[in-house]
Amino acid sequence: MADYVVEFGRDGGRVEPDGRLDAPAFHRNHEPIWAALEKHLAGSTGNVVELGSGTGQHVVHFARHTPDLIWWPSDLNQRHLKSIEAWRIHAGLPNVRSPLRIDLTDPDWCPEMRGQGPTSLAAVFCANVIHIAPWSVAEGLFAGAGRYLRAEGKLFLYGPFKRAGKHTALSNAVFDTSLREGNPEWGVRDIADVETLAQGAHLRLVDTIDMPANNLTLVFAR
Ligand SMILES: C[S@@+](CC[C@H](N)C(=O)[O-])C[C@H]1O[C@@H](n2cnc3c(N)ncnc32)[C@H](O)[C@@H]1O
Repeated sequence: MADYVVEFGRDGGRVEPDGRLDAPAFHRNHEPIWAALEKHLAGSTGNVVELGSGTGQHVVHFARHTPDLIWWPSDLNQRHLKSIEAWRIHAGLPNVRSPLRIDLTDPDWCPEMRGQGPTSLAAVFCANVIHIAPWSVAEGLFAGAGRYLRAEGKLFLYGPFKRAGKHTALSNAVFDTSLREGNPEWGVRDIADVETLAQGAHLRLVDTIDMPANNLTLVFAR
């Protein structure tokens, strides 16, 4: 069964003295996710926002591969924000900015998006968030993506999804049940419901990439 962590560092995982946290799933997932993103981001320039960055390990990995993109990680959780900043400093990459505090239940995301923050986004990336959060998080995510992505910008969503109301694997069904038991507002989302949100934000599903362990990467564009 897929496992999930709501707050890294409280799961018994490693915590470095500078606050860097470690997500065990990162080590399994980062290469296949990068392979999915690379297909769409190769040659791009500009700003990319990562939503719900968690530990900050993904953003550092992706930034290393894309010196022409500027990555803006974000999260809501204070411990995660500290870890993201610590990973940023540890990596010493010029193309990773300090994390933004973004609460995705806010369709504007955060005040910086209207001022000092990234503009005209080349991409938005979000892994493993919308099933571990109320539906209002998915709504806020798409509202902001629709507003802040530039004309040819893309939104990448990674995680488990249902197809036409059905789970794609028994393990995802078990995972979904465990999520809903923990919080009735959480749960593995159906692609059709996500596409409906996308339409409202003037985005459409342009690619569906099968990922290891019965996950998918959904790619949305205008
Ligand atoms: C399961 S973790 C995924 C972390 C990371 N993306 C990964 O794949 O390793 C879910 C993340 O979503 C964040 N999150 C939960 N609710 C949120 C909200 N309302 N707005 C923004 N982030 C949120 C959590 O703090 C956590 O870092």
